[in-house]
Parts: sequence; structure tokens; C-alpha cells
Amino acid sequence: MTVIAVVPGDGIGPEVTDEAVKVLDELQLGLDFDHLDAVNATTFQTTGTGLSPSDFERIRSARSVLFGAIGAPGINNSEYGRGVLIKMRFALDLYVNHRPAFLWDARLSPLRDDRRRNVDCVIVRENSEGLYVGVGGRVRADTPDEIAIDEEINTYHGVSRVLDYAFSIARRSVCLVDKSNAVPNGGRLWQRCWRDAVEGRPDIDCSHLYVDAAAMKLIADPSAFDVIVTNNSYGDILSDLTAQLAGGLGMAASANLNPKTGFGVYEPVHGSAPDIAGQGRANPVGAILSAALLCEGIGLGKAAAAIRAAVSSALAAGRCTPDIGGSLSTREAGAAIRAELR
Ligand code: NAI
Ligand code: MG
Repeated sequence: MTVIAVVPGDGIGPEVTDEAVKVLDELQLGLDFDHLDAVNATTFQTTGTGLSPSDFERIRSARSVLFGAIGAPGINNSEYGRGVLIKMRFALDLYVNHRPAFLWDARLSPLRDDRRRNVDCVIVRENSEGLYVGVGGRVRADTPDEIAIDEEINTYHGVSRVLDYAFSIARRSVCLVDKSNAVPNGGRLWQRCWRDAVEGRPDIDCSHLYVDAAAMKLIADPSAFDVIVTNNSYGDILSDLTAQLAGGLGMAASANLNPKTGFGVYEPVHGSAPDIAGQGRANPVGAILSAALLCEGIGLGKAAAAIRAAVSSALAAGRCTPDIGGSLSTREAGAAIRAELR
């Protein structure tokens, strides 16, 4: 039996994860789900840690993880997130954040010009170093003379392995996005790794953009992009942009991967959305497409394709939640997608 750890989390996390698990169940893939329901804000508040050592062991021993979202109003979400998501990323060395954006239905595009609407790209975000490593400090904190420093860490090993992954999934092109004109040291390292990576791939169309220009070009013509590879912070920001170009946060799926071990934590890009939690209004598509990515990651490519086809048909029929113009509840939207699988 292949064991998948399921971490629903908080807010709409359990609502959307439920629908994703039901879709996987429907396909009868021989998966065994280990539900880790104790990973939530209440546990964090009472014990001070989001992920207990025994929960972490269950995660580590699973084939991969289907994750919902964590976070709740009025608690230290940055510490909570560090204790759960960041802990998994670092302890399991999930150095790739794979974020596809695909426009399922032209009506979901915010762009007016229909010739430029097509989105079918993947942001490959470096997930283990960069600006988010938490290195730095504050000098003369909380005074008018405060200086705050956050260092950005880039290593040859870290950059080259994420570039390797980007090339491994490219269909026609890879675009490197950085800010090497203004960030000289990390910029030079990324550029050196990039030259080495490009040399080995004459079959792939390789280009480079500074991040500001990339933001503009993504709005002007998203159809020009296949794989975009970039650092942790630019990837964070640009993937929200591409998510919006493809119908919004409720639609966006992601995978935190270690391509070498084959382990992944698959999660919708959105958070726990306390503003709509408990109302049955959450769009389950991001979670369901994350389950499709999970299938792909564990070698069930046919199941992944079937899930995507079902999502596509349900959306084409307008069978979806209010955030993307439908009138179905979370459960009804999940059921509509499952119905397409039969
Ligand atoms: P959010 O993604 O939870 O919500 C942003 C907006 O999008 C809200 O108006 C929400 O209603 C809407 N939205 C999000 N997902 C939706 C869905 N599936 N269907 C329909 N509408 C949806 O981001 P926000 O509000 O900044 O954060 C809320 C909490 O989530 C915080 O505690 C934050 O720390 C946490 N968070 C957790 C993440 C994770 O677990 N990976 C990622 C981002 C935020
Ligand atoms: Mg983000």
C-alpha cells in the first residue's frame, strides 16, 4: 500500500482537502491515507509547536503529503508556519516549489485582449535558500535608529539543482528570472549556474529576464512562457501573479519537491481563508489539482490526466464555486468533478 499523509490544517484547509481525498478515492489508486488531524492552530496554541515529533515521523514515513492550509487569526502565524511548513521544507530538503498556472477557461482571465490570455506555464521557485532563510537581525531595535538586516543566501549547489529541475520539466523553453543587475553577488552566482545549465540543453529555448521586466511581460503576454525558474522571493511573488492570470487563488496548485528522493508536499497555493471558512464557499480546485500533481509525483500519470480532464469539463459546464462565477458549494463542486471521472 502507498501511504499518503493528509494534513488538512485550519480554516478552509480541511474543507478543500476533503474534496481532494474523495477525488483520489474515486480513482481507486490503492492509496492508504494517514490523516494527521492534530496539525492545527489549537495544537500550536496549546503545545507551542505545530508539528509534533511523532506527526513528523508519520509524514517522513509516508510516500508523500497532501496538505491543506494552516493559519488562524490572532496567533503568531509566522512562527506556526515556520514550525510546520518551513520545518517540512528544510527537514525533508524540499528544494523545489513547483507552481503550474493553466488557464482552464478563457472567461477566468483578467486580461481584456483574448489573444494574450493563454497561460500554460510553471514557476519553478527555489524553496530552500534565498531571502527566506531567516539570517539577519535588528540593530537598535524599536528605536528611531533601527537597522534591520535580512541576508539572502545563494549556494552553487542550491542554484544548480533547481535549474536542473527546471530543465527536466521544460517542454520548449526556460526563462531565468533574477535581478543580477542590482544584486551583484547572488546575481553572479545565478548567472554562472545558468550558463552551465544552458550549455547542456541546446534543445531548449533559453532566455533571461530581470524580475521587474518579467512581471510586465507576464501581464503583456503570458502565453510566451513555459518554465520560469527563479529564487525563493521572486518565485513567491510571480507565482501569485500567474495564479491570478489563471483564475485566481482558488485554482492554484503547488508541489514542494525533492526530485532526488521523490518526496513531495502537495498543497493549494491559498491559505486557510478565515474570512470564508465554515461557509462551504471555498473553491476545492486548487486542492484537487494539487492531488493531480501528487499523482504525477508518485508515478500515476494517468490518474493525474484524468483529474485534470474532469476539472476541465466541470469548469466548462460552469459547475464551480462563486469565486470563479459559479453557484456551487465546496462539496457540490467536488462532487461535480468526481461525476466527470465516472
Ligand atoms: P488566503 O489565501 O487564506 O486568502 C486570501 C483571499 O482569497 C481571501 O479573501 C480568501 O477568502 C480567498 N480565498 C483563498 N482561498 C480560496 C478558495 N479556495 N476559494 C475561494 N476563495 C479563496 O490568504 P490570507 O487571507 O492572507 O491568509 C489567511 C491565513 O492563511 C493566514 O493565517 C496565513 O498565515 C495563512 N496562509 C497559509 C498558507 C499555507 O498554509 N501554505 C499560505 C498562505 C497563507
Ligand atoms: Mg505566497
